[in-house]
Amino acid sequence: MSEYLPQRAVLRNGETVLIREIGPDDRRLLAAGFDKLSKQSRYFRFLAPHKELSNAELDKFTEANTDAHFAIGAASVGVDQDMPLGTARFVRVKDTPTDAEFALTIIDSHQRLGLGSMLLRTLARVAHARGIKAFVALIHRDNVGIQKLLECAGGRRLSNGVEAEWRLPLPLAPQPTLSRQPTQIAIPAKAWRKAPR
Ligand SMILES: CC(C)(COP(=O)(O)OP(=O)(O)OC[C@H]1O[C@@H](n2cnc3c(N)ncnc32)[C@H](O)[C@@H]1OP(=O)(O)O)[C@@H](O)C(=O)NCCC(=O)NCCS
Repeated sequence: MSEYLPQRAVLRNGETVLIREIGPDDRRLLAAGFDKLSKQSRYFRFLAPHKELSNAELDKFTEANTDAHFAIGAASVGVDQDMPLGTARFVRVKDTPTDAEFALTIIDSHQRLGLGSMLLRTLARVAHARGIKAFVALIHRDNVGIQKLLECAGGRRLSNGVEAEWRLPLPLAPQPTLSRQPTQIAIPAKAWRKAPR
C-alpha cells in the first residue's frame, strides 16, 4: 500500500488515466500493454529483442508489492477503459539496499504526453518513503527519451558504452509548474474502490 496511490491524472491530450499499484490480477493487462510496444521500445526496455513476456516474467512483474520491489501502472479510464498505458517498477539492489533498479515503459501511442515523467515521479516518492536514496539503471546510449527525462529529473550518466549506468538521486526536486505538464488529481482509496475499472 502507498499513500500516493491510487491517483488520477489528465494527460496533455486531455485523456484521464488512473495510476495504481500493479498486482497478481494484472497479468492480462500487462500482456496487453506489452503487445502495444514497438520493437524499439521493447529493445530499449529489455536491452535485447523481446517478442513476448514469458510466464515467468508475468509472474515476476505482477508479484504483490513488497518493501523490496514495487510496481505501478497507468490505465485509461475514458472511452478505452482499462487500456494499459504504462508501467514503472523498482527492485532494491541486494548488496546496496538504499539503491533500487528501476524500469519505465509507456506504450508508443502515449509517449510524449508526460506520462513517463509522472510515473517516474510517483514511483520515486514511493521509493523514497521506503528509504531508497537513488534509482539506478542501465540505459542504451541511443535511448534519447529516457536520458532526457532522467537529466531533467536530476539524474546523471556514470559510465560510457552502449549500455551506460545511470543514477538518479532521490528525492527528486519538485517539478516546475509548466502549462504542458499533466495534471495529477489525488483520489481517496474509498473513491478508487468505486471508480470504474
Ligand atoms: C522513455 C519513455 C519512458 C519516456 O516516456 P514518455 O511518457 O514519452 O515521457 P514524457 O512524455 O514524460 O517526456 C518527458 C520529457 O522527456 C524527454 N523525452 C521523452 N521522450 C523523448 C524522445 N523520444 N525524444 C526526445 N526527448 C524525449 C522530453 O524532454 C520530454 O519533455 P517534452 O515532451 O515536454 O519535450 C518512453 O519513451 C518509453 O517507454 N520508451 C520505451 C521503453 C524505455 O526506453 N524505457 C526506459 C528504459 S527502462
